Amino acid sequence: MSSYTGGSRLTYSEYLRLNELLELQSGEIGCEREINNDETHFIIIHQIFELWFKLILSELRCARNLLMSSHVEEAEIPKVVGHLNRVTEICRLMANQWKVMETLSPQDFLVFRDKLGTASGFESWQMRELEFLMGLKNDNRSKGMDPLKHYKKLANENPTYLKGLKILEKTIKEPSLDDVLKKWLERTPIQGSFISDKNDEKFVEEFIDNYLDSMIDQNKKTLENMGEYSSVDIETLEARFESNILSAREYLRPEGKTNRGRAGLLFIEAYRDLPLLAWPRKLIDSFVELEESMVIFRTYHARMVERIIGRRVGTGGSSGVDYLDETTKYRIFKDLWGVRTILIKKSALPAISNSELYDFK
Ligand code: HEM
Repeated sequence: MSSYTGGSRLTYSEYLRLNELLELQSGEIGCEREINNDETHFIIIHQIFELWFKLILSELRCARNLLMSSHVEEAEIPKVVGHLNRVTEICRLMANQWKVMETLSPQDFLVFRDKLGTASGFESWQMRELEFLMGLKNDNRSKGMDPLKHYKKLANENPTYLKGLKILEKTIKEPSLDDVLKKWLERTPIQGSFISDKNDEKFVEEFIDNYLDSMIDQNKKTLENMGEYSSVDIETLEARFESNILSAREYLRPEGKTNRGRAGLLFIEAYRDLPLLAWPRKLIDSFVELEESMVIFRTYHARMVERIIGRRVGTGGSSGVDYLDETTKYRIFKDLWGVRTILIKKSALPAISNSELYDFK
């Protein structure tokens, strides 16, 4: 440890490198002027977030690496869940940390805002790295957003960003959590059939057909009940239920081709009470919780920003709150959100075959 100064006992401050850490809040390098309390608070909060981002990145990498293998041992799943849950709790904590930021009044921020020039959270490479690692693609970002292009520009202008650029160029080529999750879901045994089994396709197609039939049946019953009492006219209701079935078909067989990963996900969600599906279902829940906590973190950031700078342009040049609100619509694990729309109640599920495969031995 480089800061270990060589007493006989490792001290608290040596272990945590406190001398170096507590030197880092004085504002820009070489700035002689004392910064006021509000600005110190502003810097400390940013640094705390960046430290959390650092931990989030290492947790996400551990989860991704465990799930990346072509055969994930059952005993590994709780470990993946553990890493994801830690990230979720950090995001929840970060969402609440915006409350501390909000103790900065708009007027007090204006005292030092000009000093920031065009510096903005927009330039946080760790934030971009965690988006890459989770699997956020440019197509799903706010229009025109291309973090790598932005980073090349930043690094061109200032070499301090070369390190960030290198990290981002490397991370974007790595498999994302979304990629490895999709591959893992694809291998889910469906009705007792494994992807490598000879008749797998038959089992999967049968499962989908039977499931869609049950869904149509359910929708019919719900429509009958609703039709009598709903304030919405029957034609509109019929069209809504019809579109629900069409989207279920498109979800399971996009452009007519079966998506085994989504079918596997539906199977886990539908038969989630089966003993051997307990951890897979927990894993899926952990991904959903993670993304939900991330959305809440983004939402609270936007609300804090609205309170402090209103609707003005951000220091990074974006539309400010409007841009941040757009980012709250990002969804990475889209299949996990999509499956919720097509779930039906347990008693209406088609019978399961080979259920013994999903029991504890
Ligand atoms: C007074 C406090 C803050 C204000 C007014 C503020 C405002 C903004 C605005 C307007 C943007 C949009 C980009 C731009 O045009 O600048 C932004 C982006 C961002 N801010 Fe903040 N922010 C504040 C504090 C923080 C803190 C403490 C962090 C922690 C690291 C942070 C992290 C980010 C990140 C990561 C982005 C990029 C979001 C994305 O593109 O998805 N901000 N902020």
